[in-house]
Amino acid sequence: MTQNLTERILSKLNETDIILSINLQEQWKCGHQDVVGAIKSLQCYENVIDVKEVPLKQLKLTDEGNGIAKNGSHEYNVFMSVPDEGITQAELMKSGAHAKIGFSKAMQAGWIGLDKSAPGAPRVMKKTKDVVDEIQKLLIDISLNKDTSEEDEKEYEKKKKELKKRKLIAEETIMAYEVRKGTSFTLSPHKQEVDLTPEMIATRSWETKDFKPLNFDAMGVMPTGGYLHPLLKIRAEYRQIFLEMGFTEMPTNNFVESSFWNFDALFQPQQHPARDAHDTFFLSDPVSSSNFPDDYLARVKNVHSHGGYGSQGYKYDWKIEEAQKNILRTHTTAVSARLLYKLGQMKEFHPVRYFSIDRVFRNETLDMTHLAEFHQIEGVVADRGLTLGDLMGVINEFFQKLGMTQLRFKPAYNPYTEPSMEIFGFHDGLKKWVELGNSGIFRPEMLLPMGLPEDVVVIAWGLSLERPTMIKYGINNIRDLIGPKINLSVVQQNPICRLT
Ligand code: PHE
Repeated sequence: MTQNLTERILSKLNETDIILSINLQEQWKCGHQDVVGAIKSLQCYENVIDVKEVPLKQLKLTDEGNGIAKNGSHEYNVFMSVPDEGITQAELMKSGAHAKIGFSKAMQAGWIGLDKSAPGAPRVMKKTKDVVDEIQKLLIDISLNKDTSEEDEKEYEKKKKELKKRKLIAEETIMAYEVRKGTSFTLSPHKQEVDLTPEMIATRSWETKDFKPLNFDAMGVMPTGGYLHPLLKIRAEYRQIFLEMGFTEMPTNNFVESSFWNFDALFQPQQHPARDAHDTFFLSDPVSSSNFPDDYLARVKNVHSHGGYGSQGYKYDWKIEEAQKNILRTHTTAVSARLLYKLGQMKEFHPVRYFSIDRVFRNETLDMTHLAEFHQIEGVVADRGLTLGDLMGVINEFFQKLGMTQLRFKPAYNPYTEPSMEIFGFHDGLKKWVELGNSGIFRPEMLLPMGLPEDVVVIAWGLSLERPTMIKYGINNIRDLIGPKINLSVVQQNPICRLT
């Protein structure tokens, strides 16, 4: 069909300068869409035809209009239902669904009348022998796109207006196409090459071939990427909660950290097992860092080896070489340490609330729930005179916003906090107590060398991002959540969900 139509369009164009798609449809008795399809396929040939869009207003029959074109107008049907001897109005109303409107139109037209002199109820009588159903005729003409035989243009417009008012016809805009000969018009267009193939190169046939120019305006294929990973969705929720609580996000954009900021600044002794290659990834290049604030470094060295600030210290030979070793940070508390040091350097102390959510690395044995890298969520509050009650209060508020209302704290140990507490929460969905994270009050041995005032207390807590995400999404094996084995469709289809 299209093949045939394209040839017909070309030969028509050969004879005339300009054709309009809508006219071809009428002449060739085919659908407008077929003509448009043929025009579009001719557009694939470079400059064979020249096409311009022309929006055209067309009249279209409504459903009711179509019914009348098929079965006659309501007034005509009412007229036809009136027998010569007349009929009561009540009886006439039973003649069809549109009898009421048909009755009033037929009355208006003077086709029928009411004989009130008849005995009993007034009777509807025909007032003329024969009538012409002009409405039906007009609608049929319109549906066939026929130019009406109506002589009087004004009269015709009036009738159309009436049909529109009666909602029998409506105007619709269709897109027609004006077609002219293109600069490379031909009756037998040939397809341009769309691909440069290895054969064309090998045989050098490409030199004589005509290539289709690339269409940079073509609609691209929707990329299938761009889905948020469950970890990102949960991260967004935690971030939102911290922001609501007035916390500021810390800059966590350094995976590589020196042992100094990751351990020493946190009063973690150099013999601590976490500083072993079994637990921590050490960098071979660059193997070490050297740029530390001198006086602070001296104070850290001193507090480790001799104590101070009311502490005995660890009493060992602190070595700068150990502190210089570069590692992949094992916790985001290294970032907190850097910011607390900065805070200690300020002329005047201002209370702060900081948070971070980012990746950390540990040289762990991999299993169902552990990978060598994961994400930590950390909250830090520094203010004068804070207590353990403040820590429990702020943690309560934080987890309450996540939907965890029952919390328990268990004493724990961290080298840099005293006291330290593990946090447990009752998970309504799992109906059991789950470990949520770790917390504590940073030790004076950590804070005072940084230059923070003595009465400033810093409370902090941390948790992993993976654990709540796995609980929420019902994922048992961490390898199903992150890494090369994950099923991408899970990422694409999983919903955004609340944590409880
Ligand atoms: N840094 C701790 C960890 O890696 C978490 C923590 C943060 C604990 C802040 C106490 C205070 O588990």
